[in-house]
Amino acid sequence: MKMSELFDRGEARIRWIRSRMPLLADARTEFAARQPFAGRRVGMSLHLEPKTAVLLEVLAAGGAEIVATGNFGTTQDDVVAFLRGQGMTVLGSRDDSLEQHHGNVAAVIDAKPDILLDNGADLAAGIVAAGMADSVIGGTEETTSGALRLRSELAGKLPFPTIVINDSLLKAIGENRHAVGQSVVESIMRITNLMIPGGRFVVAGYGWCGRGIAQYLRAFGGRVAIAEVDEIKAFEAALDGYRVDELENLAEWGQVFVTATGHPGVITRDIIDRINDGAVLANAGHFPWEIDVDALYADAERLTELDSAIERVDLPGGRHIVLLAGGRMVNLAGTNPKGNSLESMDLGFLLQSLSLERVATDPESLLAGAQPVPDDIEREIARRFVRALSANR
Ligand code: NAI
Repeated sequence: MKMSELFDRGEARIRWIRSRMPLLADARTEFAARQPFAGRRVGMSLHLEPKTAVLLEVLAAGGAEIVATGNFGTTQDDVVAFLRGQGMTVLGSRDDSLEQHHGNVAAVIDAKPDILLDNGADLAAGIVAAGMADSVIGGTEETTSGALRLRSELAGKLPFPTIVINDSLLKAIGENRHAVGQSVVESIMRITNLMIPGGRFVVAGYGWCGRGIAQYLRAFGGRVAIAEVDEIKAFEAALDGYRVDELENLAEWGQVFVTATGHPGVITRDIIDRINDGAVLANAGHFPWEIDVDALYADAERLTELDSAIERVDLPGGRHIVLLAGGRMVNLAGTNPKGNSLESMDLGFLLQSLSLERVATDPESLLAGAQPVPDDIEREIARRFVRALSANR
């Protein structure tokens, strides 16, 4: 595709997404007036897709000079073309090799950003390794895995504050519970074309994501059981009206199994041995390690790809299992995955915007190192979100 065609495509997609993100639209107007980032260079490493583009427009409206790269393998070239057309320095393309991607991250660091918008702590680690940490006034970190790095290998090495967006209670409720719940159930329905009402579902993990998945399955009329290792969460699930039991005991009851624990080895070979003929296995957790796919494949007599992101695994003895997305995140798999809802990303990126504004305008109010989103920002965004829900669109 020619550069101008890529730009046009990016522009059309971003225009649509922008119109569905009212919180960011308001932030853009406010930032244009307040100019919190005037004279500041923001270095970013985050998935380059249309919703991220709307966030970058907000920061640019606030006076930021943007130097950005995407994450490995997920960069959307039309989005890059559009953002470059807005005068931003945007590095990377979908076909970049891992080496090129590392080169792009290094180029963002070489541009000497004052503020970091990080994903997985790559920029923070690079800045520390380059001995440039003193020139940064602060930043944000999007993910839990990045926060873990900031609190372990980078602990005590960051003289500047980093606000961890994933520590936010608003994000846990709005995204992990409600948006993941909705999109995981929608994905299972779309990929399998199975009926939810009356079906028997086992959700492993009753954390933020598991609660949402269970809630939306039940809302569609599914019968839902929970397997949870934490006694308090199991107690909560029981009082929320779910059957609660060990996975071993639910193996023969369930027809669809969804893992959402963040931990490896949840659906083990032992569980696979016990589950019913035709059972469906899906994972919502970040890493593809919750279902023991290697054991499943090792035992397989035959593997048949039924459609995009759905595979039939025939096992000895005449049983078969249906595996979704190869055990990777089911709501980001298959053709045209939608991921989490636009509204939840509007929420998450407003957390980013207002947190970055705090870093830029009042860094003294923050501590050095990783920390949660300031409480006043959480409450302000909660108020705005509820207001936006009742507004006419
Ligand atoms: P969480 O920490 O709130 O919940 C995880 C729950 O799993 C905990 O209650 C824990 O006790 C339980 N658990 C751990 N091992 C277990 C086992 N063997 N059997 C049963 N329960 C077990 O975490 P959250 O926020 O719910 O995230 C879960 C996973 O989903 C993470 O990997 C996270 O990265 C991922 N995630 C996926 C998204 C998506 O779009 N698919 C979006 C956000 C998070």
